[in-house]
Amino acid sequence: MKMQDLDTPALIIDLDKLELNIRDMANFARQQGVKLRPHIKSHKIPEIALMQVREGAVGVTVAKLGEAEVMAQAGIEDILIANQITGPAKIKRLLELAERVRVCVAVDSREGAGLLSQAAVGRNLQLGVVVEVDSGLRRCGVLPGEEVVDLAKDIMELPGLSFEGIMTHAGHVYGMESWQEAVEVGRREGELMLEVARLLEGAGIAAKEVSVGSTPTAKVSGQVKGVTELRPGNYVFYDAIQIALGVVGPERCALTVLSTVISTPAPDRVVLDAGSKTLALDKGAHGASLVKGFGIILGGDGLPESSLTIERLSEEHGVVAVEAGFSPEKPKLNARVRIIPNHACTVINLFDQVYGVRGEVVETVWKVAARGKLQ
Ligand SMILES: Cc1ncc(COP(=O)(O)O)c(C=O)c1O
Repeated sequence: MKMQDLDTPALIIDLDKLELNIRDMANFARQQGVKLRPHIKSHKIPEIALMQVREGAVGVTVAKLGEAEVMAQAGIEDILIANQITGPAKIKRLLELAERVRVCVAVDSREGAGLLSQAAVGRNLQLGVVVEVDSGLRRCGVLPGEEVVDLAKDIMELPGLSFEGIMTHAGHVYGMESWQEAVEVGRREGELMLEVARLLEGAGIAAKEVSVGSTPTAKVSGQVKGVTELRPGNYVFYDAIQIALGVVGPERCALTVLSTVISTPAPDRVVLDAGSKTLALDKGAHGASLVKGFGIILGGDGLPESSLTIERLSEEHGVVAVEAGFSPEKPKLNARVRIIPNHACTVINLFDQVYGVRGEVVETVWKVAARGKLQ
């Protein structure tokens, strides 16, 4: 099958770019002597997780138990749930999973640790936990300092739990407005975690893992000596937000939405069959809105078409403003365009399947098996 045979909107992965991105981050981790545990929330596809493991990843990171279950089913044997698991139904599933594969889970309170401990003892299990540290995102996590030491001590006293170390996610990097600021967030992420590891050491507690990472910060915090593990996710695809932040250029973006011009109602406007149910409304997860419009339309040469801006989205329509003077070249009815989405991770969650292409040839079709796993 060729790409031109696909109906739209369709989600396309450029396999050459995907492979390059996976290899590049794996090489970086190898050179730094740190483990790579990619977050699979960005692709939700077991086949891609297995590619990451083949390239050297020690396992995967997930945000949801449902994602972990899908990955375990696919043969991934080492999973970090980088999220707080609290309710009884979820703890039961967590422990069932821990009987099948190696699972580690984040905690940020004594109460949370207590719930896990009680349940683990009930099943005669030893569950790995890491303390989630808040390095500036102000989401979950314990502030860096003595509080982490206190919680680690609590965990070590609780039966059924094994203290594995500390983790953080500097997601506030997405609120930055320049690459220099992003680098600073990455540097701080690594250094803060190292300070915490030293505090623990001072109290006689070894943090086996010092786990950090987001896509923008991975190659910065990953250079801080003492960091043991990186957890970038988005890097498999990259997207318009990463471009805006200066992480990569458009040539590295592996995920695009293939869309058709369904209307050309005015000289300065065309309409696409991709709306908010296809491109999502994201303009930046944690504050900044550096992106222009709702995705980057690529021209025939694969480079951003700066005269076309996806200005508005209805659910099933993308309204594109055509810059004045461009009208002779304006996309015609039924023309097809490829769009780099603003946020790849949310877009992949909207599709049942993706098409892996090499050039114009559709080489593979993958089910987005861990999509919609909210629980
Ligand atoms: C806990 C945690 N780790 C790692 C990541 C991966 O970050 P990124 O999407 O920037 O690659 C995320 C992303 O949300 C996260 O929440």
